[in-house]
Amino acid sequence: MRAKGRFIALEGGEGVGKSTQGRLLAEALHRQGHEVVTTREPGGTAGAEAIRAMVLGTEGDGWGARAEALLFAAARADHVERLILPAIARGAWVVCDRFVDSSRAYQGGGGGLSDADVLDLHRIGSGALMPDVTLLLTVPPEVAAERLARRDGGLADRIGGRDADYHARVAAAFVAFARSSPERFAIIDAQGTPDEVHERVMAAVGGLA
Ligand code: TYD
Repeated sequence: MRAKGRFIALEGGEGVGKSTQGRLLAEALHRQGHEVVTTREPGGTAGAEAIRAMVLGTEGDGWGARAEALLFAAARADHVERLILPAIARGAWVVCDRFVDSSRAYQGGGGGLSDADVLDLHRIGSGALMPDVTLLLTVPPEVAAERLARRDGGLADRIGGRDADYHARVAAAFVAFARSSPERFAIIDAQGTPDEVHERVMAAVGGLA
């Protein structure tokens, strides 16, 4: 029987470089000989991508934090059942751009839902699956605020486009979760060149091999 795979999530606020780091990490793991599955949330399966289009699209009135949390949990349930668990079971390494800590930080910290409620939805939807390691990419608040201000030329999605206070609460929530679960999280300084940050990422996942 092949060894069980690994599940690595990348988390952080908008514009911290998660996608670039996810790609570099996946390439490095592939070079080490692993089967690598890269995916993202919300999304990753057809059903979850359909929910993504709904929650991030800017048409209509959007949803309150509770409805939004249920939609993200539903997307995640499909993603976990159909893509993530089968990949781990066959020995692949899954690299996921955002996972449940985004719901805890955005719908919880940002939107005001309790952490217990967000985790309940995750238990019901996805059997409380947690990554083996969660890489939290951070930049100082002033850098995040500056990136937010000039981001996307006004083309931000429904959630990315929320105000600076919302994003500050999100960032603070992420750091609080990371500090309270140091066995699962690695906080990565996301300043510097992509290669410099990648080195920090590789050091953080080294223990999983
Ligand atoms: P995406 O384009 O993937 O953002 P980024 O490039 O910043 O990672 O859009 C995902 C958006 O959805 C982002 O604003 C965070 C938000 N989100 C939640 O609010 N809750 C969640 O559970 C997830 C997975 C994402």
